[in-house]
Amino acid sequence: MIFHPVRQMVHAGVTDILVVTSTEHMGEVVQLLGSGRDFECAFTYRVQEEASGIAHALALGEDFAGASPILVLLGDNIFTHSILPFTAHFLDQGSGARVLLKAVGKPQRYGVAALDEHQVIEIEEKPSQPKTPYAVVGAYCYDSQVWKIIAGLEPSLRGEYEITAVNNEYIRRRALHYDIVEGDWTDAGTFESLSEANAMMLACGNRIQGCPP
Ligand code: G1P
Repeated sequence: MIFHPVRQMVHAGVTDILVVTSTEHMGEVVQLLGSGRDFECAFTYRVQEEASGIAHALALGEDFAGASPILVLLGDNIFTHSILPFTAHFLDQGSGARVLLKAVGKPQRYGVAALDEHQVIEIEEKPSQPKTPYAVVGAYCYDSQVWKIIAGLEPSLRGEYEITAVNNEYIRRRALHYDIVEGDWTDAGTFESLSEANAMMLACGNRIQGCPP
């Protein structure tokens, strides 16, 4: 599971990678990943002291990224296909933000996108009555406006700085675009979804379609 996002990033041409994890896991993560030499990338590490949300973790990357566009990949998101087309579309887009959507059976577990014919018009975090089946998966591309947007966030009712709030601000600025996930996707944050992720990757021999073995 930890190698998967690294493989996805390197294949997408993202080779300067900041890994954010908690104090309790950082030692083992560094031991596993090292400098990045074995993966043809370079890792930098930062500790997120409290579980204060994805946007809070991302804020730790401001100095690391500087003015560069970024790809954010949640460490438990698994894709059967390369996400390279998604990052390529973002580079063509030139600025703003880009998200990846996937129609799922239980959208209430995720950020859920409401769409018109062309655009995402709203994202709701874990709605009890989802307006569509489209989950916003854990892969996001942002321009450097993201740092100011995060600095202006308030914590949500669950006490977290939500990545969904960041995406909604890009929607407000009419700067958020999307792709639909090619192939299959799952997160792995529950026992059920971890088992699904294992079955999914077992079925394809742990090969990511579009990536070298
Ligand atoms: C997070 C995001 C959610 C997104 C999901 C994808 O949820 O908040 O919008 O759909 O990742 O895995 P969490 O894993 O924190 O429940």
